This record gives sequence, C-alpha cells and structure tokens, in this order.
Amino acid sequence: MIKNDLFLRALNGETVNRPPVWMMRQAGRYLPEFMALRDKYDFFTRCQTPELAAEITVQPIRRFAPDAAILFSDILVVPQAMGIEVLMKESVGPFLPNPIRTQADVDRVFVPDATESLGYVLEGIKQTKVLLQDEIPLIGFAGSPWTIFCYAVEGRGSKSFDQAKGFCFTNPAAAHELLQKITDTTIDYLKAKVAAGVNAVQIFDSWGGMLSPTDYQEFSWQYINQIVEALAPLTKVIVFGKGCWFALQEMGRSKASALGVDWTCSPRNARYLSGGNITLQGNFDPSRLLSPIPTIKAMVKQMIDEFGKDKYIVNLGHGILPNIPIEHAGAFIEAVKEYGN
Ligand code: CP3
Repeated sequence: MIKNDLFLRALNGETVNRPPVWMMRQAGRYLPEFMALRDKYDFFTRCQTPELAAEITVQPIRRFAPDAAILFSDILVVPQAMGIEVLMKESVGPFLPNPIRTQADVDRVFVPDATESLGYVLEGIKQTKVLLQDEIPLIGFAGSPWTIFCYAVEGRGSKSFDQAKGFCFTNPAAAHELLQKITDTTIDYLKAKVAAGVNAVQIFDSWGGMLSPTDYQEFSWQYINQIVEALAPLTKVIVFGKGCWFALQEMGRSKASALGVDWTCSPRNARYLSGGNITLQGNFDPSRLLSPIPTIKAMVKQMIDEFGKDKYIVNLGHGILPNIPIEHAGAFIEAVKEYGN
C-alpha cells in the first residue's frame, strides 16, 4: 500500500538494494521554508494546528525525498496533556514554570485520555497522510518516560539533569509514580497515533545517557520496555537512546524492530552489542554535515559499508543542526540513494 516501502522492509530485516534514509529533526530550522512559518506562528501553535503540522512535516519530503516522513510535533506535548505547563522560549528552549519537585506535585499530574487531549496530533497525522499520498511511510514518536521526566522535574534543558536525578535518588517512590504516569499516557498516545495512521513509532530517549547503566535499567529502560511491549503487536517500534550504547544488549533482546545509535558508538560495536540481528539506525555525526560535500558523500558510503546495507536505516546520530547548509543535507540523502551504483 505504501509505494516506497524501503523503510518498512529494513524494519522487517528484509534484503534491500540500498538502505533507506531519513534525518532526525528533518523538519527544522535549517530549512528556509520552515523559518518562514516560524516567523508567523509560535512553536506550540505550529504543533497544535493540524494544517501547519502536516505542511511542516512534508517540507523536507518535497525538498529531499527521503524514504520516511516524521510527523512535526514535539515530545513535550505529552506533559502538557498531563496538566504540566510547557512553554517554548526563544533562545532558551523548553521552559516549565511549575516543575515537579514533591509528592504533592506528582499527585496533581494526571493520566489524560490521549485521544481527547492530543486529538490535534491525531488530526495532524490524518492530514499528513493525505499530503503524503502513500508515497512513503509516516513515523510517529514520543519521548521516553525518563526524558519527559527530566524536563518535568528540571523545568528546562540542562547539561547534567542533576535535579531530575536527585529527585530519583532522594524520592524514588514519587519518581517511579511519575514515570509510570508518563508511561501510561505514552502507551495510550502512541496507540492512538497508530490508529490515526502512522506506520511506525520512534521513542526518543535523549537523556538516557545521563544515567549509569544500573540506574538506566531502573529509571529509563523498564518504562521504555513497557511501551515496546504494548506497541510491538500493533506497529514497528524504534528505540533511540542518545548515549545509551551500554544498553544495546538489553534493547536487542526486546520486541523493538530497530535501535537508534549516536555517533559515539562505532557500527561494529553497535552490531556486536545489539546481538547482530536487529536493525540499527544512525549514526552520522550531525556536525559532520558541515564538511565539504565530497567528504560527506565518502563518509556516508563508508558508514553504510560498516553497518552493512541490510538491517540498517541511514540517519544522523541526533537531530540535524540549524546551521547545516541545505545542500549538505541534500548531499547526505543523495549519497544513500547513490549507494551501490
Ligand atoms: O524530527 C522531526 O523533524 C520531527 C519534529 C521534532 C521536534 N522535536 C520539533 C522541534 C521531534 C522528533 C522533536 C523531539 C524532541 N523534542 C526531542 C527528542 C529528540 C532530540 O532532539 O533529542 C526533545 C529532547 C525535544 C524537546 C525540545 N523541543 C527541545 C530541547 C527544543 C529546543 C531545542 C531546539 O532544537 O531548538 C525543542 C524545540 C523544537 N522541537 C524545535 C523543533 C523543530 C525548534 C524550535 C522551533 O522550531 O521554534
């Protein structure tokens, strides 16, 4: 039913002529057409207006024709739906005026009916599907419970997320209660996204790498795995844990269809740690897109050679940066399409 199903075939572990490619944060500030809409509408208006979310989702598709689209939205719409106020401040990023710091704060957080409170995302999916005309698959996503917890407790981005970690280590019962509420909401939300038409889901654990391997199991992975268990019967699940190479073995034994890796882990090591059989996604250093185009192309070819063309989805190791020239992003995609020619 999807005309270009290369991405879904890679998730199935099928043999392909070349690996599929998409870029994390492919709808973003490096695109002039994105900046034009950004001048007109604030961040959460863009997320909450289905027409705008759909239009922004297809902007990078029109320009580069990657093998998958990812819905324009944000991981922080989930805590918003749970009664936690989230603002997006210019040159600060996410800002939560009333961070969660006590058991009483946790008690006030509720598990919403996701279909109702995040209905605008579901409508955005339906409108995006119309624009995509089944040319390529659409990816839905959510933050990992731990990564959402980090923002909910810290109240903003952080280099170390020490307040979030401190909350876990001083009040583990309240921390686990909040993590479970986020998990329950996320499962409900991702199931609704699948029902609305997404073809796969990705869980972003952007701050999992802040935890030690032991703490990762307790505060992040056990919750991600609940989501994987709940969603795997319905769709393909990709888990991307930034800095989480140490958990690849555990992840590789789960029901996830693919694992995302960042650029600090070599392809060989990622294959070894994940058990050698699961599809991997990544892991071009986003800053490497600043290199001259011939260098980008040579490095992409080498990366595919090292991961192997099968059971592999080409991507960046994290989101694309705002200062990447668009021709360089284009060269990245092109290099994958030229692979094997
Ligand atoms: O990949 C895509 O193209 C889909 C869109 C997408 C956005 N956020 C749009 C966005 C996705 C998948 C996300 C996920 C997200 N949001 C993550 C996980 C992935 C990652 O990068 O680690 C996180 C941690 C967030 C929280 C968040 N949202 C931060 C920290 C920021 C500010 C930093 C920044 O890059 O500006 C945002 C804002 C945001 N989300 C922007 C975009 C395009 C930029 C702000 C803007 O457009 O005004």
